[in-house]
Amino acid sequence: MGENVAVIGTGYVGLVTGACFAEIGHKVICVDKDQLKIKRLAEAQIPIYEPGLQRMVAEQLEHGRLAFTCHLPKAVEASDIVYIAVGTPSLDNGEVDLSQVKEVVTQIAEAIERASSYRIVVIKSTVPVGTARRMEQMIREGAPSANFAVVANPEFLREGSALHDTFHMDRIVIGCSNTEAGERIGRLHEPFGAPVLYTDRESAELVKYASNAFLAAKISFINEMAHVCDKVGADIELVARGMGMDRRIGSHFLQAGIGYGGSCFPKDTKAQLRIAEDVDYDFKILRSVIEVNALQRERFVHTIERALGGSVKSKRVAVMGLTFKPNTDDLRDAPALDIISSLVDKGAEVRAYDPVALSKAAPLLPQARLVEDPYEALQGADAMIITTEWDTVKALDYTRVKGLLAHPIVIDGRNCFPVERMERLGFRYVSVGRPG
Ligand code: UGA
Repeated sequence: MGENVAVIGTGYVGLVTGACFAEIGHKVICVDKDQLKIKRLAEAQIPIYEPGLQRMVAEQLEHGRLAFTCHLPKAVEASDIVYIAVGTPSLDNGEVDLSQVKEVVTQIAEAIERASSYRIVVIKSTVPVGTARRMEQMIREGAPSANFAVVANPEFLREGSALHDTFHMDRIVIGCSNTEAGERIGRLHEPFGAPVLYTDRESAELVKYASNAFLAAKISFINEMAHVCDKVGADIELVARGMGMDRRIGSHFLQAGIGYGGSCFPKDTKAQLRIAEDVDYDFKILRSVIEVNALQRERFVHTIERALGGSVKSKRVAVMGLTFKPNTDDLRDAPALDIISSLVDKGAEVRAYDPVALSKAAPLLPQARLVEDPYEALQGADAMIITTEWDTVKALDYTRVKGLLAHPIVIDGRNCFPVERMERLGFRYVSVGRPG
């Protein structure tokens, strides 16, 4: 039977969570304090680029299973289960900024006290260990007579494939101190058909950080291996394939490139390091993972300099792809932004193309010329630089590309093509960790 669920926060996680719960038959009300955003969402205009999401939101609005409001108390009153999915950004010192979580917990406490019936409050946002327990204390203080439980239920979705991931989840982690509340959250997810792991709340909170830190470690590891490959003349793609065939290692997240970006890995690795520091533990591997990822961007700029004869000064380069990965318009901590800034600082003239993020990128990259047509970016350029493996970049007519470039040099930070193919086309093709 469908539950009544409120989802507070209509960012990426909240919106996907709300739409997917509606899709499996629950009645969902999504809350945000941004009035304009809510007004647009109620008309099925979604503020992010996520394949399939707009259609799902429109359908669920039509079915009446999904609604949007700015009124948090009313949403909490109408719901038995209250999901919190507000932002938890990093502060400059790596600490997690919990101000938005605290603000909504205070309001939820007031609403629960007034409603005087049982509520399950679920924390979906990525939060440091101990947050769910502290939320329980906060609600208890704000709502002394309320009957409620607090559950930790982290999310593991990837931007760009969030809907697919939701319907093919590897696991659902439910951290609770109250078995009944935990089991009800388990039943809420039943239609997704994924295995459920019940844990204590602290462990659930840590599963999220540990998973992201481990995936980031795989990426930094393979990027370091790529440098070794460059030095000894081996091919990182073959090394990764050979490693991945060992089921204990697995073939995913062994794609060498210019390192990870986005709103999750950079933030969560730093937060996990900070969590360890707070309990006087020096998490050495994680420190290196973060350092290697930052270095990866600098090294790529050196690769570009070398490929252009030692300097990029007065060289014109065409940068393909700005987002931190394809199928998203998210530019947060995108490697391309740092790489472009560094190239411009070194005197290069940069033209950049991205299929979806140009308008978002404009204020972030005043030093670059942003163009909608990739061929225009390439016209007369001294080199083509690939920073995001968009299909539109991979599907360009490379014979035409060669004709447009002043010098047929492609520097590929995402290893999009077989080396032989690009060489056969007559390019000088420089990629990551592969001979050529
Ligand atoms: C990541 C995790 O994959 C999700 O499980 C998690 O839920 C999410 O963070 C989160 O914490 O919310 P996401 O940031 O959307 O998801 O993106 P990923 O697909 O994981 O890619 C992250 C970055 O790693 C991208 O910049 C990508 O280019 C890079 N990457 C990924 C590599 O450089 N090599 C790889 O082999 C894989």
